[in-house]
Amino acid sequence: MREKIERIRQEIDAFANDTREAVERFRLTFLARSGSIPALFEEFKAVSADEKKVLGKVLNELKNLAETRLREATARLETSATGAQSALDLTLPVIPNEVGNLHPLNQTRYRIIEIFERLGFNVSDGPEVEDDWHNFSALNFPPNHPAREMQDTFFVERNPDMLLRTHTSNVQIRLLEKQKPPVRSIMPGRVYRNEAISARAHCFFHQVEGLYVDRNVGFADLKQTLYHFAKEMFGADTKIRLRPSFFPFTEPSAEIDISCLICKGKGCNVCKYSGWVEIAGSGMVHPNVLRNVGVDPEEFTGFAFGMGIERITMLRYGINDLRLFSENDIRFLRQFQTVI
Ligand code: DAH
Repeated sequence: MREKIERIRQEIDAFANDTREAVERFRLTFLARSGSIPALFEEFKAVSADEKKVLGKVLNELKNLAETRLREATARLETSATGAQSALDLTLPVIPNEVGNLHPLNQTRYRIIEIFERLGFNVSDGPEVEDDWHNFSALNFPPNHPAREMQDTFFVERNPDMLLRTHTSNVQIRLLEKQKPPVRSIMPGRVYRNEAISARAHCFFHQVEGLYVDRNVGFADLKQTLYHFAKEMFGADTKIRLRPSFFPFTEPSAEIDISCLICKGKGCNVCKYSGWVEIAGSGMVHPNVLRNVGVDPEEFTGFAFGMGIERITMLRYGINDLRLFSENDIRFLRQFQTVI
């Protein structure tokens, strides 16, 4: 019996089990009910008790060896087959093709651009790291304006003349420095303020600036343009209201409110029961600003406005927390599948 065991061990070692058929043959030859190893176990029953002690161990080793070889060969076949098979198997379920979507802030930005482009506005941009002149001085900010304080604005430590722009109004100056009127442009971009982060404020957010400078541009143009914008953006029955306000770079200045989309002007917690929500600041470009860029305010006039993209997006979709926009939570972002 010893020789038999040894012979079968050699057969196992020599067996080329590299195809599916060969592996099956291997199983039938050695391990199946009619195979040589179960036959040995049958023979084993008849040997003497003394011999059993020695042979039992050897026989079990032989069986283990065959089983291990079978397992290894099957595993090898599986791995080489999966690739080949899935390429061919047309009955397998389709791997879904995941479609992404624009960030809601970008959807709003593109919509705003689209509306103003139809009115003849082009799109400009400018730097986010800006100098004092373009962010403040040229825009007629007095030297002691609170926005110039460290606690409101991020200044660059190495060069106190440089800062992270607090609004997109810097692009008005950059544009008028290199282009003589007529200028009709909108300027979307990111701005920075030293604010504690909450549901309503963040240390960075996005604005769209608008500027129209030409001969005979008047306040009626400002009003009509923003009224048109409000109707396009929020629906044809939207109303606007202009509230007197103050900005150093416009005179006169006005805050633009729209009738509350949620309660249609009746009063709710979104509009704090006033029926109106603020969407933009605006005004006629201050003569000092025009002078600062070498434009004669006797010849040219203009209007400007600035609106927050977050604010408009929150109104559009009923979002109540500003932080959601920058947390990269895919469960939030996936809800904005509609591409405008
Ligand atoms: N720059 C202002 C801000 O950050 C917004 C603004 C108001 C822009 C009036 C304008 C404007 O162009 O005319 O809050």
